[in-house]
Amino acid sequence: MVRKCLFPAAGYGTRFLPATKAMPKEMMPILDKPLIQYGVEESLAAGMQQIAIVTGRSKRAIEDHFDISYELEHQISGTSKENKLAGIRHLIDHCTFSYTRQMEMKGLGHAILTGETLIGDEPFGVILADDLCVGNPEPVMSQMLRLYKKQPACIIAIEEVPLSEVHKYGVIDGEELEEGVYKVNGMIEKPSAEEAPGNLAIIGRYILLPEVFNTLRETRPGKGGELQITDALHTLAKQEKVLALKFSGMRYDCGSVHGFVDATNYFFALYRQS
Ligand code: G1P
Repeated sequence: MVRKCLFPAAGYGTRFLPATKAMPKEMMPILDKPLIQYGVEESLAAGMQQIAIVTGRSKRAIEDHFDISYELEHQISGTSKENKLAGIRHLIDHCTFSYTRQMEMKGLGHAILTGETLIGDEPFGVILADDLCVGNPEPVMSQMLRLYKKQPACIIAIEEVPLSEVHKYGVIDGEELEEGVYKVNGMIEKPSAEEAPGNLAIIGRYILLPEVFNTLRETRPGKGGELQITDALHTLAKQEKVLALKFSGMRYDCGSVHGFVDATNYFFALYRQS
């Protein structure tokens, strides 16, 4: 029912310089797998097989990653290393990958609007690959899709954060309809603790209705002079078209050194057990 998933991946990754000077932040590995591969796995697990990636300059490595490397595969074919490529081969075999480039960095809303050409007139998922999510018991996008199937609306994933951290996130104002499901009345991008309507922060997972594109076109630049998806969703929330889901599981902000190391430790502990 939701076939496409958009990955905004044009950002500079300034929080991880100098590592991201010449390498896309989405290609930073947690153990031996780049962040964006975790995101595509989550998308495929939710049945979203058409992967739409908004890239920018110096992001070529992403396209090469989701492509067949004939020399490499020939070289390791029949050796013990062959199974190292099984995971990425599975994605390549089961997904399609389309790309478009964001020429100017004008915010997440602008990146999503740039992806319209790949999405068209249908609902779609959005994954910000540097938010690495470990859903429990099922992947976060699958949890969101379950809610979408019951109540088709824009769905955003949220988690509680300390008030001292709300300035890093979009924050919702909502009322709980049932456990973990909120009707969103409004939202604000990166508020101060005083301005924030609460401590329910948006994390990098969305299911969006295609009308978000028109709403984005009508939205003025917001925080930081950028076109914010939060502002467009605020408008749709006023029309009662937005729900928020407090997902179950963990989320690591891998755009920060702290979150990146925490995620690495988590996956390394699993790896040692295996
Ligand atoms: C973006 C969104 C913000 C959201 C966050 C989640 O901000 O604008 O609303 O809370 O992603 O990671 P960014 O982290 O790109 O500045």
